[in-house]
Amino acid sequence: MIQLAPSILSADFSRLAEGVGMIERGGAHLIHVDVMDGHFVPNISFGSTVMKSLNGKTKMPYDVHLMIEDPDKYLEDFVTDQTEYITVHQEACIHLNRTVQHIRSLGVKAGVALNPATPLCVLDYILEDVDMVLIMSVNPGFGGQKFIPYTLEKIRKLRSMLNEAGLSTDIQVDGGISAANVRDVLDAGANVIVAGSAVFKNDAAANTREFLEIFSQYQER
Ligand code: DX5
Ligand code: ZN
Repeated sequence: MIQLAPSILSADFSRLAEGVGMIERGGAHLIHVDVMDGHFVPNISFGSTVMKSLNGKTKMPYDVHLMIEDPDKYLEDFVTDQTEYITVHQEACIHLNRTVQHIRSLGVKAGVALNPATPLCVLDYILEDVDMVLIMSVNPGFGGQKFIPYTLEKIRKLRSMLNEAGLSTDIQVDGGISAANVRDVLDAGANVIVAGSAVFKNDAAANTREFLEIFSQYQER
């Protein structure tokens, strides 16, 4: 199943619940929560209190993307009844196996993210233990950047690694995705699509519906 996870990083924070209401009305599946610490990435976004301010205001599950150093320290803070995924960066985890087990022990699905320049081979010994791999298609830190084309090849390779291993792990793609290029990432094998600026510009409900329309045409093929 193809899912849309709009990133609230591009929402108007002064009217966050309204923005989330728009994507929910449009039919979005997940809320992508971009947490940045100013160390792992050169920008600071928000922490768990902002995410938790949405508790009970939406039925959509949280898809937490931690762009922070030493994520183990903060995992518990992001666990709520609505938290479906917590994704950590391979580059930020010294003991990735331990961190992934830690996430799962909290009753949450575990994701591992790779920066554009990080090779897929870092996943060789962890693939069976993760629920989702996030292929970054921009260098993390900011919304509204340009999609890096070589990441398509990385998604294709990852999907064939998973198929060979008999795994149906989710592949998420994040950064620079719009209605104009989303078919390319679907073709390559991604099934959880993050979009920030493309959803939250102008009418977020209409933009969400446009993505979902493309997904359903794609699934009917
Ligand atoms: C990048 C973040 C993304 C970003 C996506 O560091 O992880 O989730 O907000 O925004 P767009 O879709 O505008 O590239
Ligand atoms: Zn993200």
